[in-house]
Amino acid sequence: MEIGNLQPLILGIESSCDETAAAVVEQGHHIRSSVVASQLDIHAKYGGVVPELASREHLRAIGPVVAQALAQARVSLEHLNAIAVTSGPGLVGSLLVGVTYAKALCFARQIPLIAVNHVEGHIHSVLLEHAVEFPSAALVVSGGHTHLFEVLKIGEYRILGKTRDDAAGEAYDKVAKLLGFGYPGGPIVDKLASYGNPRAVRFTLAKMKGNDLDFSFSGLKTAVLRWTKERDISAEVEHRRQLSTASVEEWRAATPQATLDLLASFQHTVIEELLRRTAAAAEQIGAQTAIVAGGVASNAGLRERAAQYKELDFYFPDPSLATDNAAMIAAAAFPKYERQIFAGFDLKAQAGLMLA
Ligand code: KG4
Ligand code: ZN
Repeated sequence: MEIGNLQPLILGIESSCDETAAAVVEQGHHIRSSVVASQLDIHAKYGGVVPELASREHLRAIGPVVAQALAQARVSLEHLNAIAVTSGPGLVGSLLVGVTYAKALCFARQIPLIAVNHVEGHIHSVLLEHAVEFPSAALVVSGGHTHLFEVLKIGEYRILGKTRDDAAGEAYDKVAKLLGFGYPGGPIVDKLASYGNPRAVRFTLAKMKGNDLDFSFSGLKTAVLRWTKERDISAEVEHRRQLSTASVEEWRAATPQATLDLLASFQHTVIEELLRRTAAAAEQIGAQTAIVAGGVASNAGLRERAAQYKELDFYFPDPSLATDNAAMIAAAAFPKYERQIFAGFDLKAQAGLMLA
């Protein structure tokens, strides 16, 4: 094994939703391995994650995924300084698999156990590569979350706003499902949006009462549903439902211009909502930087538009770290390791765990 001068080594384990992941990260930022076993194929035919199937798949995958992460990092269990695991939020049955596995390894090897909040993990998918100036406004935007935080410093967060209904990724997935694109919908809608006119369909969103840093995406989803009902697009939708594993070119060929325009307009509206509120949050807390993390952070349109904000420096994760992975969990655990914030063997999976 090559340990080099860096050290310490943390094994991260992530199983909060539909990805079983393990990674070895050295010194909080050097990724020695990152293995992600996706269950997409299993859930795709149901158009979303089926919790019972997810737990079963995690059980099946966790041993081999951890073994592969250790092998790729060229380390064995005795070289590890700590094991970090996502303890929440997420699907309780899925979380339990990772938490129980991590506890067992720690118990058997007498290694410290570190509990990581999945949302803090996403924030660290950016911090592990970029030295971001604090305070920073952090937007965590995925299939399960659309939350805005103030990051005062690493480990200290304050919630500024959140979605009142659907998460942005969930809106992508629901719109995609409605239109006959596969699951998850974000990546394909993102790719097809570049072929449409983002100003073709005007969506008027209801004004938010109360906290104006909160989000709402259910109205947008309903507006898309209304658009589809005003036209007869059932034949094209049905045709796309048969495609499932198509390439972008095949999807595009199966999508008339009016629908491409709809996708572009939907994406444009989501992006504006996300960035406008992130910029407002940054202004409110006097931050010059903003972090965007979570699955939706891989969106090409979002990145492009964020780059146009002159008054705010946006930081995004490497696309390989935007969706769920365990490198971000191991990275988030490192500052806790340094401060010796360890979990006991009574650690529980907490479906509704909050970051702030
Ligand atoms: O972070 P993640 O892997 O899992 C959760 O914690 O939810 O995020 C998955 C979500 C899905 O809703 C997916 O549709 C969305 O991220 N997503 C995208 C893109 N890639 C993934 N949404 C928009 N554009 C993308 N390029
Ligand atoms: Zn996530």
